Amino acid sequence: MNSTRRLVVANGPNLNLLGTREPEIYGRTTLAEIQAMVDARAAELGWSVSFFQTNHEGELIDRLQREGPGALGIVINPAAFTHYSYALMDCLRAIRVPIVEVHISNLFARAGAFRQQSVTAPAAAGIISGLGPHGYLLAMEYLNAVDE
Ligand code: DQA
Repeated sequence: MNSTRRLVVANGPNLNLLGTREPEIYGRTTLAEIQAMVDARAAELGWSVSFFQTNHEGELIDRLQREGPGALGIVINPAAFTHYSYALMDCLRAIRVPIVEVHISNLFARAGAFRQQSVTAPAAAGIISGLGPHGYLLAMEYLNAVDE
């Protein structure tokens, strides 16, 4: 068992608008509701959670640098940074904890060729895409399974 028992859940730009943003693509669940789902499961697992969202690439990197090391794992929805942020990819590669990349929508079923590329995914253990808010919980189950 990891002695830290701390999970980081990071959310990138525009995810603060979940619930009203393009509901036909992202559904109607708000980020606050996702946080409540994550918190409830974390409580069952005995984990503390640092759950945050930012629209700013540098702030996302600052927080991950600060909070990632020593965490039992990171669940990250990098949002649009997924598709072009080599700075975020480098940051994730530098943090030696298990990382799961989550997307609410199925990137591979979306219009726009750029969405089918993730520059950050190579830094993750794996990626969950298209399972809506459940993706966050499934990522936690993976991290629980590999937690040492
Ligand atoms: C997203 C998919 C990204 O392409 C998009 O830029 C987002 C959200 C998702 O959760 O489906 O902002 O990461």
